[in-house]
Amino acid sequence: MESRTVCGILRAMDKLIIEGGHALSGSLSVSGSKNTALPLMAAALLADGTSVLSRIPNLRDVKTFAHVLRISGAAVQFDAARNEMTVDASGVNYPEAPYELVKKMRASFYMLGALLGRCGHARVSLPGGCAWGPRPVDLHLKGMEALGADIRLDHGYVVAEAKGGRLNGGTFRMNPSSVGATINLLLASVTARGASRIEHAAREPDVVVFGEMLQKMGASIKGLGTDTIDIEGVHTLSPVNFHNAPDRIELGTFMIAAAIAGKPGQPVRITNAAPEHLGDAFVDAFTQTGAGYEPGDDYIDVTAPDKLLPVSIETGVYPGFPTDLQAQWTVLLAQASGNARVRDTVYFDRFKHIPELHRMGANAIVVQNEVFIAGGNHLQGATVMSTDLRAGVSLVLAGMVAEGETHVLRVYHLDRGYENLDGKLADAGIAIRRVQYDEFADPSIKEPIAG
Ligand code: EPZ
Repeated sequence: MESRTVCGILRAMDKLIIEGGHALSGSLSVSGSKNTALPLMAAALLADGTSVLSRIPNLRDVKTFAHVLRISGAAVQFDAARNEMTVDASGVNYPEAPYELVKKMRASFYMLGALLGRCGHARVSLPGGCAWGPRPVDLHLKGMEALGADIRLDHGYVVAEAKGGRLNGGTFRMNPSSVGATINLLLASVTARGASRIEHAAREPDVVVFGEMLQKMGASIKGLGTDTIDIEGVHTLSPVNFHNAPDRIELGTFMIAAAIAGKPGQPVRITNAAPEHLGDAFVDAFTQTGAGYEPGDDYIDVTAPDKLLPVSIETGVYPGFPTDLQAQWTVLLAQASGNARVRDTVYFDRFKHIPELHRMGANAIVVQNEVFIAGGNHLQGATVMSTDLRAGVSLVLAGMVAEGETHVLRVYHLDRGYENLDGKLADAGIAIRRVQYDEFADPSIKEPIAG
């Protein structure tokens, strides 16, 4: 039977069907970091030649950003099977990033710093909002002006100009500390005429590894990983071969999965990881739950405890508890033997997953930027909706421990940031499968779309 269509277009999407109650066992492998891969790709634009990036995860956001780079004139080849990307930036000659692509992925805003650093001018669409509210870029714009750029807004686009074709450099203090703004200012300042300083800079591993690539390209940077970064502008940068870091948020997600769905006493090994990228706040909270935590050089053995203890957390900039793990932590707390709370100080309204968890029986109340969770309630499988990347993965975690079947819809959110999540979980004992569904199907019409 041919697939159904809605007004002539098949509105088929993927969903994940998870049958709860199967134990996570064996091992899970961590892919390359999404939030490091994207700035590495932007950095490659700064050199007139071909850079080779390895351990680049096969994700929607990576493919979207590869297209943004191509628009500027770069030739980008991505071997998804080998997770290897080549970026030939010798042809960069169109310093623009269009709304149609920037609206899909906020990190495309890195083109502002990359094109200013390479070409001395740029026209980049403002990114707009996201699933959980405004995501301002005022720090990016004020920072570029501090480096000597002329910035003006033109019908939803930022038009940036370096007088004389090259930024002078300058000092900028951020408030609050911003990962994206730190990355953007590094992209713009490494080829400026003079010295630059970023104060209250982000210290996330994503920024440090990205800065190490710039250093390998010939940039002069001191203070990576601290809150004050000093840059001495250089005239040209060289293309490099560079190995991406593993994804610390995927690592944290898998640790939480093992703590709630592993067999007590039977460790789950999470491989190809960088335990040192987790930050003390997350590791401390994780070990306080009673879960077993045995780190090796590039792996972590996690053992589910007989009883998960409730541990309240508050997110913060690195090395604080990552905001990208607060939704996943909420699911752990729903399983814990007591009440606790999650407070997000980075984003104040990142709780779209809570109404979906309510449908599964979670007992959680959001008050401003906090959610209070009563532990120990058994979750029931239900059909739930992903609203963004990390909210979506928290629903998968909940489905793994719920009684019965859970259908997680709009899996395209998950595919933005988790490489082969369903395949990895299925290989580790979880009953999970990906099927197509028609987002607009009318249940009264019993006409299934082709499987
Ligand atoms: C990065 O976003 C990550 N994205 C986010 O991960 C992550 O949640 C966030 O850092 C915080 O760790 C990528 O790396 C691609 P910020 P970014 O600028 O750079 C405020 C995921 O799930 N702010 O550090 O956009 C902002 O409102 C994504 O992988 C300003 O006020 O985050 C927020 O409160 C989601 N003005 C705080 O700073 C600005 O100009 C931190 O935002 C910029 C930011």
